[in-house]
Amino acid sequence: MIAIGSDHGGFELKNILIDYLKENGYDYKDFGCYDTKSIDYPDIAKLVCSEVSSGNADLGILVCGTGIGMNMCANKHKGIRAAQCSDTFSAKMTRQHNNANVLTLGGRVIGPELAKEIVREFLTNEFLGGRHETRVNKMMSLEEV
Ligand code: RB5
Repeated sequence: MIAIGSDHGGFELKNILIDYLKENGYDYKDFGCYDTKSIDYPDIAKLVCSEVSSGNADLGILVCGTGIGMNMCANKHKGIRAAQCSDTFSAKMTRQHNNANVLTLGGRVIGPELAKEIVREFLTNEFLGGRHETRVNKMMSLEEV
């Protein structure tokens, strides 16, 4: 299951991505926002990240104006490895090498077609493990620093 959420700055792109998820047969849950009224992105990041870190969702997608605020919030949650992507190569590599479990996007930065391609790379690539697992384990141990 994919947990998805946005603030008002990412609302329009989130709706486009929800259509993409539907069209491609993904199970998803929308954690808001549900209109363009101004809201605080940390509140939505918390809902989506809790769903991912608890295991209820396999992966998360968060959209705000730049993606940066959502990314900062997401990476403060234990067990979350959020990647801010504005290109498809990064989206692929962050799944393969970093085992990223949340994708953050900027609704005011990238267009809808690129965003869909980025989501496709993020959802269809798998973690490669091996030497990358050692590094991701070291990364996660930094939560205790
Ligand atoms: C909202 O205006 C904007 O600050 C937010 O969407 C996001 O870009 C923050 O990082």
